[in-house]
Amino acid sequence: MLPRVIATRYVTPLREGGSLPGLMEADDDGMYVVKFRGAGQGVRSLVAEVIAGGIARGLGLPVPDLVAVELDDSFAAGEPDEEIQDLLRASVGLNLGIDYLPAASDVAAELVRITQRLVRH
Ligand SMILES: Nc1ncnc2c1ncn2[C@@H]1O[C@H](COP(=O)(O)OP(=O)(O)O)[C@@H](O)[C@H]1O
Ligand SMILES: [Mg+2]
Repeated sequence: MLPRVIATRYVTPLREGGSLPGLMEADDDGMYVVKFRGAGQGVRSLVAEVIAGGIARGLGLPVPDLVAVELDDSFAAGEPDEEIQDLLRASVGLNLGIDYLPAASDVAAELVRITQRLVRH
């Protein structure tokens, strides 16, 4: 079982993610990358992420802590972006939270930056 936290603030969307994950604060004062149950990828992709994380941890790889994030219906109302509003409305209940690593960078985006730098010089 994953530890449970309650979402307290939607900070910002992570636009690089295919499922439009959001950065959220929770009642344990933690900051989490939240993958939403209402995203097009479906709940099974969240289950797959929990299983893959468990396998990786079992192999001794460092994996950020995973939590179940409880979302109530108040978040959609306060969200001006229609796409995010729909996603939050469809995700009331339990979602997957991954401990936010502020220093993490997206590997694909980083490769694009490196390639651009090489082309310029
Ligand atoms: N725990 C984390 N801490 C910081 N950034 C993260 C974390 N998990 C994912 N990200 C970043 O968020 C973005 C979307 O994550 P990703 O796992 O690709 O989402 P999706 O499952 O929607 O494709 C990526 O840029 C990734 O680097
Ligand atoms: Mg992705």
